[in-house]
Amino acid sequence: MKTVLLGYMGSGKSTVAKLLAKALNLPFIDLDDYIEGKEQRSIKSIFEDKGEIYFRLQESKCLNEVLTDKAPGIVALGGGTPCYANNMELIRAMSTSFYLKGSIATIKQRLSSEKAKRPLIASLSDEKLTEFIAKHLFERRNFYEQAHHTVVIDAKSPQEIADELINMLQPI
Ligand code: S3P
Repeated sequence: MKTVLLGYMGSGKSTVAKLLAKALNLPFIDLDDYIEGKEQRSIKSIFEDKGEIYFRLQESKCLNEVLTDKAPGIVALGGGTPCYANNMELIRAMSTSFYLKGSIATIKQRLSSEKAKRPLIASLSDEKLTEFIAKHLFERRNFYEQAHHTVVIDAKSPQEIADELINMLQPI
């Protein structure tokens, strides 16, 4: 059974998942990397050449593959993964899931310096970015909040978040 980290872009899913995997001595899987490996191209180029619907279909297939493999591991999802197809149902049934929950301000701060590789926000100005995040988070939070556990990430370092998760997974 996998442990899954989900949440909005920029919430630190991959960074925290790597730390967690290392601490627990488990394999780390980044769903975006897994999709890129299968498709032999970057997420950006999948969006550009084949469109978002194609990406969402591949994303859902890859999620199925990753969660069907019962070997333990830590999985970082893409920000949109829980919000399409029956993905959140699958996540609830086949993993232990954690929502890394950040405020609009925290997410905006983290994303403004690393927009380029994210096709959904790459072309937005700083002002538009806040508006986009607020609206998008409002649409997505119902999905995110179905995770088994929620961890607030505001003002915490990736290591602090990873430690919190370890304590939740392995209560003393
Ligand atoms: C997306 C988030 C990205 C990636 C794709 C779409 C989204 O993953 O899957 O660009 O819809 O929020 P990260 O959350 O790892 O940036």
